[in-house]
Amino acid sequence: MSGFVPPPYPYDRLQRLVPIADAHAGGTVDLSIGTPFDPPPADVLDALSSSGTERSYPPSIGTPAFREAARRWIARRFDVDVPAAQIGATIGSKEFVATLPQWMQLRTPVRDTVLYPAVSYPSYEMGAILAGCRPVPVRALPDGRMDLDSIESSDAGRAFLLWVNSPGNPTGALDDLDAAADWGRNHGVPVFSDECYVEFTWSGRGRTILESGLDGVVAVHSLSKRSNLAGVRVGFYAGDAELVSYLQEVRKHVGMMVPGPAQAAAIAALDDDDHVELQRTRYRDRLDLLAGVLSAWSGDAVPVPQGAFYLWIPVDDGWDYTERLARDGGALVSPGEFYGPDGARFVRVAVVQPDDRVQLVADRLRSAQR
Ligand SMILES: Cc1ncc(COP(=O)(O)O)c(C=O)c1O
Repeated sequence: MSGFVPPPYPYDRLQRLVPIADAHAGGTVDLSIGTPFDPPPADVLDALSSSGTERSYPPSIGTPAFREAARRWIARRFDVDVPAAQIGATIGSKEFVATLPQWMQLRTPVRDTVLYPAVSYPSYEMGAILAGCRPVPVRALPDGRMDLDSIESSDAGRAFLLWVNSPGNPTGALDDLDAAADWGRNHGVPVFSDECYVEFTWSGRGRTILESGLDGVVAVHSLSKRSNLAGVRVGFYAGDAELVSYLQEVRKHVGMMVPGPAQAAAIAALDDDDHVELQRTRYRDRLDLLAGVLSAWSGDAVPVPQGAFYLWIPVDDGWDYTERLARDGGALVSPGEFYGPDGARFVRVAVVQPDDRVQLVADRLRSAQR
């Protein structure tokens, strides 16, 4: 019998480097997983503990107040009107990403393919695998946008879903969301746009695919990165009336429910922009600091990304660079192959740790050069 065997979780493969990084006074500074460490706003935590929503089941699609808050945020942030009925809650975006192919394939049984960016967040591919479907990576152009023209017409004809992610993890590249929406409409393929890093757009303004119209597209958002609420697990999707309504209904049957206190916290967070501005400054300062220090340490210029909070560094050998950073900087980072074979000659550095920990890595690397 040869059933499904889950592959090793990428970050578990870094464990052998922990003793090397731990040899530094002050220990390992973990810049591998993109998990926030900075605090959420105090009033958001107050809302989490005072909603009085613990007793009853929360509505799977999201409470009216939560969906209204998401609607307000989309209108304020992007100047796009989406009826609250066309918004649904998610338990953070990862579960949505990883389960979506099952529901989309059931909706269109004659199709079997998920298209996704070749260098990307691993759950796009894993979701397709978990659904028993075909994951087909779409290669990137040199500027990081998806090369939509490279999609074979046979793959387009089999696809029931195209993922786009902008700003992208791990590259930080900004994709052309209008082009992705057009491609989807021309090929009859729904386009899902993962926009969880949109608040951390450094080059121009943050964009949503919903600016291209709602037909055939769904934007996926999360409070995890925007408001440092990854531990609370709340996000939402919004867009095409028919797609959203279908997913709301399926997800009710699965029991996908965001706890009421988490929805209350999300409302407070979505209504506030000040904490996002503060977080933007933190990430931007850390990106600039580490890009400078790593450039000096390695002798090769490290680019600052167009968006998100990762340095995506071109290197000769991802694992070798990762090990040298553990040795010289006491930092744990991610070899680019975690995000697809095309990432093998890159390393991703997540600038998520508090300022003093990032500064510690900078100090270690500066003294390793001397
Ligand atoms: C591109 C992308 N999408 C989705 C997620 C999932 O985030 P969450 O489930 O916390 O919303 C992440 C997390 O790192 C990510 O990088």
